[in-house]
Amino acid sequence: MDNAELGAVGVIGAGAMGSGIAQVAATAGHPVFLCDAFEGAAERAQARIAADLAKRAAQGRLPAEEAAAIAARITPVAAAADLPACVVVIEAIAEDLDAKSALFEELGRTQPAATILATNTSSLSINAIAPAAAHPSRVLGLHFFNPPPAMKLVEVIRGETTVQDVLDAATALVVSWGKVAVRCASTPGFIVNRVARPFYGEAQRMVQEGVADPATIDACLRSAGFRMGPLELTDLIGQDVNLAVGTSVWNQTSRDPRYAPTPFQQGLVAAGHLGRKSSQGVYTYAADGTATDNVPDDAKVAELLASGVVTNPVARTLAMLVNEAVDLVDRGEAGSGDVDLAMTLGTGYPKGPIAWGREIGFRTVRDQLLELDAAFPGGRYRPSPALERIS
Ligand SMILES: NC(=O)c1ccc[n+]([C@@H]2O[C@H](COP(=O)([O-])OP(=O)(O)OC[C@H]3O[C@@H](n4cnc5c(N)ncnc54)[C@H](O)[C@@H]3O)[C@@H](O)[C@H]2O)c1
Repeated sequence: MDNAELGAVGVIGAGAMGSGIAQVAATAGHPVFLCDAFEGAAERAQARIAADLAKRAAQGRLPAEEAAAIAARITPVAAAADLPACVVVIEAIAEDLDAKSALFEELGRTQPAATILATNTSSLSINAIAPAAAHPSRVLGLHFFNPPPAMKLVEVIRGETTVQDVLDAATALVVSWGKVAVRCASTPGFIVNRVARPFYGEAQRMVQEGVADPATIDACLRSAGFRMGPLELTDLIGQDVNLAVGTSVWNQTSRDPRYAPTPFQQGLVAAGHLGRKSSQGVYTYAADGTATDNVPDDAKVAELLASGVVTNPVARTLAMLVNEAVDLVDRGEAGSGDVDLAMTLGTGYPKGPIAWGREIGFRTVRDQLLELDAAFPGGRYRPSPALERIS
């Protein structure tokens, strides 16, 4: 394909996400212009991408000429104002509303009116960022997952002002890059970071309640097909990172008890027990990264899996995942197919929560939530009104 025909792609922020997104767009054939506020960062990112691609070529995973051609399509530029006219500019700078607003104001002035302006924000509202640009109708979220070259999912987020042709063009573009696009409204946490909250929260609560030790709770969830248990997964993500996402969703939903952070996780973060990166989180890690204290009590796993919903880590977690997913769909924020795709591709769940709910039976899920609500009043376990209707 003629590269010039594909149009230039601008990427601002050459950190973990920006450099990955630049690589994805360059691999699809676009000329890519990459910039970063930190002097030399875009050049270093380009060199790193070139070295990674050369390594993959040496391993026989792609032709050497292709590796060189992809890297050559990425041009570091000094500032956003130096970008040529682009079909899309994607920003992946610091997660800071003021910084993003200033950048969109600048891009609104310096890019043609037809350019799509996208943010890779994980937690900020598109509705808060878009007004800074001269054409808020052309602003949307393109939420890639880490690392962008390997992760197939992109959440395409519509703000209140985003027009349909921008959503359609951006969706077509990321699909042409080999990604799977799901659509979502600009709602706190979008799909993945929203629906996944109870996966972590219920396990943390069950540790707090003394239902079982972390290793036993993780083993229960693995037995249901999850690749990792929630507690070991938060150690991998970083307890601080996971707590920050949860707290952001909680604050943006007027502190809905469904998303309330747990004293258990807050305690870990306060103690500096951030997970694998600090050698101590829920578990303790040896120098080679293996946990030294993650042995489950198998008899207890069997006992919990046969127990009622209040002390059954799988039933309780699934009930909450299904409730969250159904609620998102019911509010018109995402389609059920998109929610299931997002959760299987974005988090690697063995099944989408809507399909899982259908399998369990929505009435059963609702009854389980009512039982949980009776055991733990306060609103966290209230069934979504949609669950009442479809069960
Ligand atoms: N890391 C993830 O897993 C992940 C996943 C999805 C989305 N995101 C989002 O992507 C964005 C970037 O995250 P990251 O993990 O790549 O961060 P990062 O810290 O690795 O990279 C950010 C880069 O942006 C540069 N930068 C900061 N302010 C700038 C500005 N005003 N102009 C130009 N460059 C600037 C920094 O120098 C840095 O190189 C954030 O909005 C984050 O929420 C992150």
